[in-house]
Amino acid sequence: MKKIITLVALACLSLQGIAQNEVTINADQAKHQINKHIYGHFAEHLGACIYGGLYVGESNTKIPHVNGVRKDVIEALKKMKIPNLRWPGGCFADTYHWKDGIGPKAQRPSIVNAWWGGVTEDNSFGTHDFLNMCKELGTEPYLAGNVGSGTVKELADWVQYVNHNGVSPMANLRKENGAEKAWGVKYWGVGNEAWGCGGNMRAEYYANIYRQYATFMTNWDNDSKLFRIASGANSNDFNWTEVLMRDIPHNMLEGIALHHYSVIDWGKKGPAATFTEEQYFKTMQQALFMDELIQKHTDIMDKYDPKKKVALVVDEWGGWYEVEPNTNPGFLYQQNTMRDAILAGATLNIFHKHAERVRMANLAQVVNVLQAVVLTNGEKMILTPTYHVLEMYNVHQDATNLPIEIKTNSYTYGTEKLPAVSVSASKDKAGVVHISLTNVDINKAQEVSINLKGIAGKSVTGRVLTSAKVQDHNTFDQPEKVKPTVFSGATLTGSTLKVKLPATSVVVLELK
Ligand code: AHR
Repeated sequence: MKKIITLVALACLSLQGIAQNEVTINADQAKHQINKHIYGHFAEHLGACIYGGLYVGESNTKIPHVNGVRKDVIEALKKMKIPNLRWPGGCFADTYHWKDGIGPKAQRPSIVNAWWGGVTEDNSFGTHDFLNMCKELGTEPYLAGNVGSGTVKELADWVQYVNHNGVSPMANLRKENGAEKAWGVKYWGVGNEAWGCGGNMRAEYYANIYRQYATFMTNWDNDSKLFRIASGANSNDFNWTEVLMRDIPHNMLEGIALHHYSVIDWGKKGPAATFTEEQYFKTMQQALFMDELIQKHTDIMDKYDPKKKVALVVDEWGGWYEVEPNTNPGFLYQQNTMRDAILAGATLNIFHKHAERVRMANLAQVVNVLQAVVLTNGEKMILTPTYHVLEMYNVHQDATNLPIEIKTNSYTYGTEKLPAVSVSASKDKAGVVHISLTNVDINKAQEVSINLKGIAGKSVTGRVLTSAKVQDHNTFDQPEKVKPTVFSGATLTGSTLKVKLPATSVVVLELK
């Protein structure tokens, strides 16, 4: 009888348009830290990411700046808490010769940016500019070395230039260029997409090349022991991970990368803002595939590295759509909507779940390119829905992941289904629990009943990012159409938390 009454009640709720979901948070089983570095970003010499986006130069600009870097962008990124920034590419990295970007700016050579729009690159933003900008942002630099068209000596010299504090040819050159103290860069990529734009190599060949390059990357400074990241697999190329884990000795490999973009179809990516529900659904299929991808790459890594010493570094992820009309196709400038907010929330929840192996990640890219957190137009700057999600979620940085069990509804499109709700939770150093939830379903609100095991919360507060339509976004004329507001849809009774998630929403709750 009781069962029948419950079923009738559930049916009534779903007739009212509220779907039911059940979650258990097992705080008593918490083990792994969510490394803050999974909240990393990526800045490539591509379109208006560097020039105009981050860097406006030191003269001839009305835009307020610190050493040529926009003050508005610095402030926004600091507020979002950006733990690391990858530079100078991407594909550009394997064409970049770092010595072109040091010394007096007027004497730096110009090159052609062959990958991205064939534009002139005057090298006015180089190593000093990037590393000083990172200091200003309070973020750790992640330098991507040129393996595809560079040399072992060139990369070894770059390491010496930025990390050696004694007397050496490269340290002396750095001092001549005005930097007395080395920056102590820890994170280094050994090439990028070696299977593609980084040299079209086979996995076995790259593994050998990696061994050679990594050998000459010297630890000049014990405080910033190098963290070397091998160019990793393209999405579901599991053989790439297998070969690298097998053929590279693990004492010369701290991380192995993975790139996965949420693309509907590389030949027909669909518009960034005026997409259909079908296109939204397909993007989310690709985004949620990240969970399976990470699991399968992890299983391979576990075979060779059961103690999980080598990190999986998802150093390029995000949504990739058609460029905005009338913009240079080589600049990858796209709008950013609630679709991107949901994609970001769900992806970060997946990273939290895999916190033990995924210890670093980089959203592509930080300003004006692909799934950007900031868009600029001359003097104007706007924050995108993705920015707001990363800012709301930053409470999880370095907190302990709390394992989740979830029974979720389906979001159905035609004959296909996706889990409607995605959840993750963590406990920070002060003992505060944060729960983040995304409602992938753009048509239905979801009621989520959360059983809090091992959590003694007395009160709940929260913030929500939502909008009437999944296509909604901010523009330079309407910069605050999508922004977080106070969430009042959560009630706590004993150890049960009931949450009413609006359709198309991302929520972060705080339990105290
Ligand atoms: O992020 C844009 C490009 O995507 C990067 O340069 C490359 O690594 C990837 O293919």
